[in-house]
Amino acid sequence: MGIFYRGDGAFSPNHNEEMPHSALEGRIQSGELFLFLGVYMSKKTVMLTITEQCNLNCRYCYEKNKTLKSMPYDTAINVISRELSENDEFDEVEIQFFGGEPFFEADLIKAVCEYIWSKDWPKKYQCFTTTNGTLVHGEIKKWLVEHKDKFVCSLSLDGTKRAHDINRCNSFDMIDIDFFKSIWPNQTVKMTISPESLPFLAESVIYLHELGFSFHNNLAYGVDWSDKKLLRVLEEQLSILSNYYIEHPEIPQCSMLGMSIENVILGRKIERWCGAGVSMRSYDTFGNLYPCHMFQPISTELIQPDVRQKTTFEKLNTLDPKCDNCPIFNVCPTCYGHNYTATGDIAKRDEALCKFTKVNTLATSYIWLKKFERYNADKLGVPIDQACAILDGAKLIQDRLPALID
Ligand SMILES: C[S@@+](CC[C@H](N)C(=O)[O-])C[C@H]1O[C@@H](n2cnc3c(N)ncnc32)[C@H](O)[C@@H]1O
Ligand code: SF4
Ligand code: SF4
Repeated sequence: MGIFYRGDGAFSPNHNEEMPHSALEGRIQSGELFLFLGVYMSKKTVMLTITEQCNLNCRYCYEKNKTLKSMPYDTAINVISRELSENDEFDEVEIQFFGGEPFFEADLIKAVCEYIWSKDWPKKYQCFTTTNGTLVHGEIKKWLVEHKDKFVCSLSLDGTKRAHDINRCNSFDMIDIDFFKSIWPNQTVKMTISPESLPFLAESVIYLHELGFSFHNNLAYGVDWSDKKLLRVLEEQLSILSNYYIEHPEIPQCSMLGMSIENVILGRKIERWCGAGVSMRSYDTFGNLYPCHMFQPISTELIQPDVRQKTTFEKLNTLDPKCDNCPIFNVCPTCYGHNYTATGDIAKRDEALCKFTKVNTLATSYIWLKKFERYNADKLGVPIDQACAILDGAKLIQDRLPALID
């Protein structure tokens, strides 16, 4: 077990085919890869902070300035009506009811949705929320079952009971996990990892796979990751998970170990990692617009006029000069909102998380190299051109990255 590849590179035969660069280049030229990277978007996200209240106090929560405020019904209706009718470049809208804990305002959610569903709109739309799950009981459950195709819930679940309870105020037993699984079987859940839950990362990931969830997991932003011991803990946990994924090629790697490592061979830098300030339209309880929820007063006091408006935000530089020569720049995501709240600059990345990302990337490349040693592309469900690109990316990472992690 480990994350450093020391194999002989004897990959199974169809992976030794020469890389069909033309196919990959074709995908880049046609914009398909950029679609995947979210640069071109025909869908906008309209996020309404319908309440700033929450019944939990999760240890990593970036919403440090919660209040008792909720969005008035009329404000919600005005924002949504305008966004669904606006003559802009987007033909689809994801309407996100956000919090605090959105189900604190279950009646408001119901009333706003029922208004939306009672009208015809020029744009397609879907209603969505992210919830801590603890208030989803009784009447609201019935309503959700009735409207499950029009209103989708993503559950925040940090893994096994002990990992979840460490992070999320002992709330594991307050959630009906089976309800979420049975009503929205294909919806991803969200796992956030803190320094305190990191030692339970592997068991938590395996637990969520065993429950049958697909999920996104990431290290919490804005918490103290500076203790060097944590990097060793991450390596140990990823080493266990690497072995798990190598033994179970049918299980898709979790997002932390599912980075698109083939992007390290792209000839140019990815310029944007999310739709903040472009396709993300985030409204506070007063109906004021922000580039994303991280820029709202609930998350930061540092609101400056230049980041508040969509047009100027689009023009801000998003590239951190310290990352200029990094070999894994194109697989290292960044959160502009977090950068901004931490440093006042949307481009400046978290120094402490840099090494963690390198370890993640190394583990991802290790898993792919080992999988391609054992299984062929068909078995792994990867098209041959992508398999070749992944292998090239993985070799480059194993060559260059260890020297950059001390
Ligand atoms: C702010 S909460 C609001 C919705 C709801 N209360 C919930 O917990 O799902 C939205 C998501 O942000 C995640 N989150 C909170 N603080 C975070 C942080 N510092 N870094 C990364 N994710 C975080 C939570 O785990 C949750 O999945
Ligand atoms: S992460 Fe969600 S549930 Fe936890 S304190 Fe923040 S808003 Fe509340
Ligand atoms: S790994 Fe570090 S240096 Fe490389 S792009 Fe990410 S933050 Fe920048």
